[in-house]
Amino acid sequence: MRIIDITTASNILLKSGIIAFPTETVYGLGAMANNQIAISKVFKAKNRPKDNPLICHFNSVEQIKSFGIALNRVEQILFDQLSPGPLCLLLDLPNNSPLSVATGNRSKIACRIPNHTAALDLITKVKYPIAAPSANTSTRPSCTTANMVLADLGNKIDGVIDGEIPKIGIESTIIEVGNVSIKILRPGSIGKSEILNILSKYSIQIKIQGENTTPNKQTVVPGSKYPHYSPKTTIIQTTSIKKIIMSPGIAVIASKEKLSEYEAQLKPNKDIYFYSLGSKKELTKVSQFLYKNLSELDSIGFHKAYLLIENWGETSLGLAIANRLSKVGKNN
Ligand code: TXA
Ligand code: MG
Repeated sequence: MRIIDITTASNILLKSGIIAFPTETVYGLGAMANNQIAISKVFKAKNRPKDNPLICHFNSVEQIKSFGIALNRVEQILFDQLSPGPLCLLLDLPNNSPLSVATGNRSKIACRIPNHTAALDLITKVKYPIAAPSANTSTRPSCTTANMVLADLGNKIDGVIDGEIPKIGIESTIIEVGNVSIKILRPGSIGKSEILNILSKYSIQIKIQGENTTPNKQTVVPGSKYPHYSPKTTIIQTTSIKKIIMSPGIAVIASKEKLSEYEAQLKPNKDIYFYSLGSKKELTKVSQFLYKNLSELDSIGFHKAYLLIENWGETSLGLAIANRLSKVGKNN
């Protein structure tokens, strides 16, 4: 596998290859959205369960509409105001659409316009939407650098574009707009308050459901039933430091603030390594480096790591960080 430029990536895609590219959220593993052969390669490279459909990436709302995909007023406003950006809308896909190979023949398609020059240039160059899940082996942390992609997917893919580092670092918010409510199917940096704030400017009042850390099972995307974001190191989630079984070579993962609370209690114990995910006062940094931090645990070689379950605050980003962390490793 190699680092490639946008022209090379575009040529590979047009010849049914698969390549990884940066977005503002995480790296995507792209295939032409109408190409069954390339899409099968994506599933194989990731070891992705077959029933888990792929998001399609477009360069504009016009390109979405050119496939006969209609947007209602709320959807149009949200895309106008928040895209390009980390928002993915689940929209009705017309029957017999060439894009149905990406959705696994579902009647809805997840559409997103990424806010990243390399991603947009690539879509423009191939003149077609790109289907792309996150560029990582299923169950592993998503990748936020080209080197992470290289380390995870190795020679299973045809290349990776090494672009500007994703600013957000965690995946897009996925929503479905219904007649009476909007469902947040996967929380992200855009949440309830950002959506309500925009719609209120248009005097639209609508209920928003499902932004909890562990959303109601009926309001989640198919992918959420699978394990996620876990490095190879054994990670055990725990609510309390008291549940940690002390042994040589263990790490305790938490926010900077949580770790400093425990410092006096635990620091004298030489067996324990404090692994900070960053400060709650700097959530944008925490999210930007979340997956990098989780995957770097493997290179340090801990025997075991304990992840402290904690409250990351009520902002959309805080809730999204807590949502991702809630899926890492096992519960204790
Ligand atoms: O930020 C992101 O969204 C990144 C970047 C690369 O764009 N992509 C991403 O893709 O996170 P992935 O495949 O890791 O997660 C997409 C989620 C999965 O849980 C999948 O089940 C859901 O979106 N999804 C995709 N298409 C869908 C569809 N047609 N209906 C319902 N859920 C869908
Ligand atoms: Mg993923």
